[in-house]
Amino acid sequence: METDLHAILRSLRVWDPDVTDLRPFDPDTAPPTPLPLFATWFAEAVAAGQPEPHTMSLATVDEEGRPDVRIVMLHGADPDGWSFATHATSRKGRALAARPYAALTFYWPVLGRQVRVRGPVVSAPSEESQADLHARSTGALAAALTGRQSEELASPAELRRASEAAWERARANPGEPSPTWTLYRLRPETVEFFQGDPDRRHVRLEYRSTEFGWSRTLLWP
Ligand SMILES: Cc1cc2nc3c(=O)[nH]c(=O)nc-3n(C[C@H](O)[C@H](O)[C@H](O)COP(=O)(O)O)c2cc1C
Repeated sequence: METDLHAILRSLRVWDPDVTDLRPFDPDTAPPTPLPLFATWFAEAVAAGQPEPHTMSLATVDEEGRPDVRIVMLHGADPDGWSFATHATSRKGRALAARPYAALTFYWPVLGRQVRVRGPVVSAPSEESQADLHARSTGALAAALTGRQSEELASPAELRRASEAAWERARANPGEPSPTWTLYRLRPETVEFFQGDPDRRHVRLEYRSTEFGWSRTLLWP
């Protein structure tokens, strides 16, 4: 039986009041810089039961200017930027080497909130990248040691062999380096906070980094 994609689409709603808590957001009460507001919204998403609030879309462009986007984990957000980690040799790693600029999007549907962060990206020094990896789980290390991210895979059996060997190495030596694994920091130039509104008068507050500090601007939804 064929799946009726369009019938399913018609049956779906965004921000069903049974599951989504659309809270009023008064931009006049927003702090002068974006990081504290991000931390507050992140904590509120966690408290509201948002699954996996620490996953985000990472958009990059390759050297020909063609965009790509995928999900990665947030490793931190502090005055140095929003951080994530991946292989420098992956597709996104190569795109970032050619065009060190990216955009992140968080979507927290339980609160009808979206946060968008854009700016240049810098790589952390190798020691810091390795320390970040070694502070994570054995599985994260095994995945990093499996390597070859974004290369063509000949067969699932080939992955199984490489992954089993990587798990063994990760268990035997929790400090084993994964030389291409890199912690990246996106230094924000703009950070937009979007709060959904039941009457579609969504609030969009954009922080812009200027030579005098952060400015705040409202945007039409
Ligand atoms: C929930 C989730 C979290 C992920 N986290 C990461 C991550 O932190 N780092 C990473 O390299 N890939 C992560 N991935 C895999 C990426 O989405 C992507 O498949 C991979 O990095 C290869 O992307 P690329 O070919 O564009 O380089 C994650 C995927 C999902 C679904």
